[in-house]
Amino acid sequence: MRLAEKTALVTGGSRGIGKSIVQALAREGAKVAFIYNASTDSANAIVEELKGEGHEAVAIQCNVREKDAADKVVEEVLETFGRIDILVNNAGIIRDGLLATMSIEDWKDVIDTNLTSVFNFCQAVTRPMMSARSGRIINISSVAANTGNPGQSNYAASKGGIEGFTRCFATEIARRGVTVNAVAPGFIETDMTEAVRNAAGDNIKKMIPMRRLGQPEDIAKAVVFLASDEASYITGHVLTVDGGLTLGGI
Ligand code: NAI
Repeated sequence: MRLAEKTALVTGGSRGIGKSIVQALAREGAKVAFIYNASTDSANAIVEELKGEGHEAVAIQCNVREKDAADKVVEEVLETFGRIDILVNNAGIIRDGLLATMSIEDWKDVIDTNLTSVFNFCQAVTRPMMSARSGRIINISSVAANTGNPGQSNYAASKGGIEGFTRCFATEIARRGVTVNAVAPGFIETDMTEAVRNAAGDNIKKMIPMRRLGQPEDIAKAVVFLASDEASYITGHVLTVDGGLTLGGI
């Protein structure tokens, strides 16, 4: 097991990519605390499933946009596990719409949930990770940071922000033994992409040379790699996991 003796905190862990990350980290031996927003039943089900397999997992309710709440969660996890070795900032939302008519609420919702949350949790783990002189931070971005999708100016701004943040923070904390990286998923089969999948059907696969949509596990494997000792000399990097996605189609 690649993450035995490690402890991890994952945001947005009750479904989709976050759930898969929680399961993968736990199955590699890490003790995992994960945050859910509203889905208490699915969060509890994941905890029970992992405990049934002999792993340690706890679910904590938190709105990732709130700085004080993030600080509290980190304190709670430190009390429970004694340390946080791995932080995965995964929680995210979309509120798509053309800029001409986008409400300020849809702009702020996306920036606060996707980007300010990364600030909140990174800052909250900075001191403990610096004191431990080790740590792994993995922020979930998106290929949308770079592709220019119509209707996603808020989302692309949040994900582009995550990538710039990742590169800067990595330089600030590298000498303390902490790495900061991002994973940029392509098109992954989760609730978030359900509406687009229904509308676009098989056309999506034409843009993916591997001719399949990504699965949450594809992203979880990249996160486990970046959290493992094998990635100890990688920092400030954005790892794209998209099956070769090309907007022109092939
Ligand atoms: P999802 O919608 O299935 O899951 C998102 C998770 O974030 C949920 O557990 C939700 O409860 C949590 N969340 C949202 N707002 C929150 C808040 N205020 N406080 C606490 N938790 C909150 O989405 P999916 O597809 O699993 O996405 C996970 C991450 O991957 C997101 O950051 C998303 O932007 C990113 N991503 C997803 C892609 C895809 O194709 N599905 C592609 C590229 C990036």
